[in-house]
Amino acid sequence: MTDLPTLSWTDAETGAVHTALWRSEAGNPPPKRVVIADDRTTADAAYRLACEGTALLWQGDFHNARQLLQAMARRTERKPRKQATSTIDAFNLHRQAQSQRARTLGMLLIPLEADYAVPLRRAPDVREACTEAYGPSDAASVVSLREVLGLIGAHEWRKKGVEIPALGGERIHPHYGVFSPVRGEYIDLVARAPLPSRGLAFDIGTGTGVLAAVLAKRGVKRVVGTDQDARALACARENVARLGLQDQVEVVEADLFPEGRAPLIVCNPPWLPARPSSPVERAVYDPDNRMLRGFLEGLTAHLEPDGEGWLILSDFAEHLGLRTRDALLAMIDAAGLQVIGRDDIKPRHPKASDPADPLHQARVAEVTSLWRLKVR
Ligand SMILES: C[S@@+](CC[C@H](N)C(=O)[O-])C[C@H]1O[C@@H](n2cnc3c(N)ncnc32)[C@H](O)[C@@H]1O
Repeated sequence: MTDLPTLSWTDAETGAVHTALWRSEAGNPPPKRVVIADDRTTADAAYRLACEGTALLWQGDFHNARQLLQAMARRTERKPRKQATSTIDAFNLHRQAQSQRARTLGMLLIPLEADYAVPLRRAPDVREACTEAYGPSDAASVVSLREVLGLIGAHEWRKKGVEIPALGGERIHPHYGVFSPVRGEYIDLVARAPLPSRGLAFDIGTGTGVLAAVLAKRGVKRVVGTDQDARALACARENVARLGLQDQVEVVEADLFPEGRAPLIVCNPPWLPARPSSPVERAVYDPDNRMLRGFLEGLTAHLEPDGEGWLILSDFAEHLGLRTRDALLAMIDAAGLQVIGRDDIKPRHPKASDPADPLHQARVAEVTSLWRLKVR
C-alpha cells in the first residue's frame, strides 16, 4: 500500500496543504497541478484545465461529477481528427486519440477515505469494488473518477458473470483487469475442435480460466492453466471452483508453459503486436509478438509425440497492417511446426456495424481462427 506515490494540494480557501496516496492503474504519475473543483465548476473550465494538465479534485456532489465527466467527454469528441492516410495510420491515430482522451478525462479526481468510502454527497458505496481491484487499504487516497467508474462496471460484471454457451450456459465471472470472454465466439472454436486426447491439456495464459473449463467440461481428465498475472490466477481459480472443476483443473503461475508435456496445448494470446499503454491492455497487446512466438517456439518441447497445439488468433492485426499472414506462417514454420487444420469464425463485434468507427473496415473483415499445429 505505502509504495504508492502521494499527491499534495493546497486548499485555496484555507491555505492548508493536504496529502494523500495517488492511485492509477495505468501507472500514470500524480498530476503536478491540482485545483479544487465543485458544483460551480463549468464543463468548459474543467475541460480547459484538464487539457492543460491541471487536475481537478472534486469536492461537490458525486452525480454532478459524473455529469461533468460526460460533458468533458463530449468536448474531447468534438476535437477535429487528423485524416488517416492508411489503415495502420488510422490505427495509430485512433490509439493516440484514445490515450489523449484518457489523459484529459483522467484529470477529474475524487477522494477515497482509508476504507475506500467516497466522502462526497450522493456517492455510491464503492468499498467492495475498490477492495476487489486494489486489495486492502489503510490510508486515504485520490483517484480519477473515470477509474472508479471502471471499477464499478467491473464489479458488476464480476457479480453477474458472462454466460458461456459452451459451458452449457454456466457463467464465467471476470475479475477487474482480467480478459473477459464477453466476445465469446473464439470459445466455440475450442468447444468444437476434435480432441486429440482426453488425458491432459495445458491452457497457456488462462485469464478467467474459461478455455480450461471448456476442455474439462468436454471430458479432458486433467487441465493445467497457466498465467503470469496475479488477478488472472485468482480469477481462474475462483471460476474453476465455482464450476466444481477443481479436481480436474489446476491453475499455476508460469511464464507460458507448466512443467512437463501434454497431448493438447491451447493458447489464446493477445492478438495485436503493439505496446500496451496500461496493464489492463496486456491481454490485447503483445509487443513484438512475444507471447505468440514463445508459445509456438515452446510447443516442440512441451507436446507429447503426435500431440496438437491449438493457437487461437484473430487476423485483426493483418487487416491493420501490423502483421502479415506470411509472417505468421513463417513463425509457425521456424518453430518446426506444421498446420494440420484451421477452423474460422467471424467475431460478432458490436463496433463492426458502425461505419463511423475509424477501424470499421478492419473490424468487418476480421476472422478468428483456431490453428491446429503439430510438430513436423
Ligand atoms: C487474450 S488473454 C486470453 C485469456 C483466456 N485464455 C481466454 O481465452 O479468455 C491472454 C492471457 O495471457 C496471459 N499472459 C500473457 N503473457 C503470459 C505469459 N508469458 N505466460 C502466461 N500467461 C501470459 C495474460 O495475463 C492473459 O490472461
